[in-house]
Amino acid sequence: MRIDVLSLFPDFIDQATSVGVVGRARERGLLQVQAWNPRDYATDNYRRVDDRPFGGGPGMVMLPEPLGACLAAARAADPAPARVILLSPQGPRLTQAKVRELAAQPRLILLCGRYEGLDERFIEREVDEELSIGDYVLSGGELAAAVLVDAVGRLQEGALNDAASAEQDSFEDGLLDCPHYTRSEAWGTEGVPAVLLSGDHAAIARWRRRQSLGRTWLRRPDLLARTRLSPADRTLLAE
Ligand code: ADE
Repeated sequence: MRIDVLSLFPDFIDQATSVGVVGRARERGLLQVQAWNPRDYATDNYRRVDDRPFGGGPGMVMLPEPLGACLAAARAADPAPARVILLSPQGPRLTQAKVRELAAQPRLILLCGRYEGLDERFIEREVDEELSIGDYVLSGGELAAAVLVDAVGRLQEGALNDAASAEQDSFEDGLLDCPHYTRSEAWGTEGVPAVLLSGDHAAIARWRRRQSLGRTWLRRPDLLARTRLSPADRTLLAE
């Protein structure tokens, strides 16, 4: 899949998506990320990308012209149709279900706002959807775009060495993940739940599911309220 990111800080986007699983996915050619700087498409001597808002008030608004020219160049770089997403606190919150949906697209173009945001007419004309990564305000969309590229990139086929690990992630089934333990010379097995050392795979699976359910109930009851529980889950919760 291909993701183009329009940002006044293209180096940040490139670096933030060059490490770990997503960096490896890029190296393997499973994910192509290209950052574009709208300032390169500004036509005046000062390479301006913002101006004062109509109606007055604090802050600046990103100019539609450099953004529009930059977006046209990004679109033209590949014939595949692209979904254009604006990262902004005004959008609905990003969820794992949305990440899955976007990960199946051939192409995304992400727009990172700075200052007070983009000219609303540009959003209406060019943007397919807005997404927020949480109910707080960042100084720009770059961190949010990096979050989206990471979440989508790790789901590309072949990105994770063990594909099953994505299916067991928190939120994939609407629940939080269970706790994990590993071998430690210094710590031995003290404090490790005995069932995990038992070799009884059915009992281990039941224990993990019960932990997931219990943690979600304690920490994120809002998630549990939205999850359809199976009769087996109900029995586990009641145990
Ligand atoms: N830009 C500024 N704040 C943001 C947020 N919370 N989510 C996405 N983009 C943003």
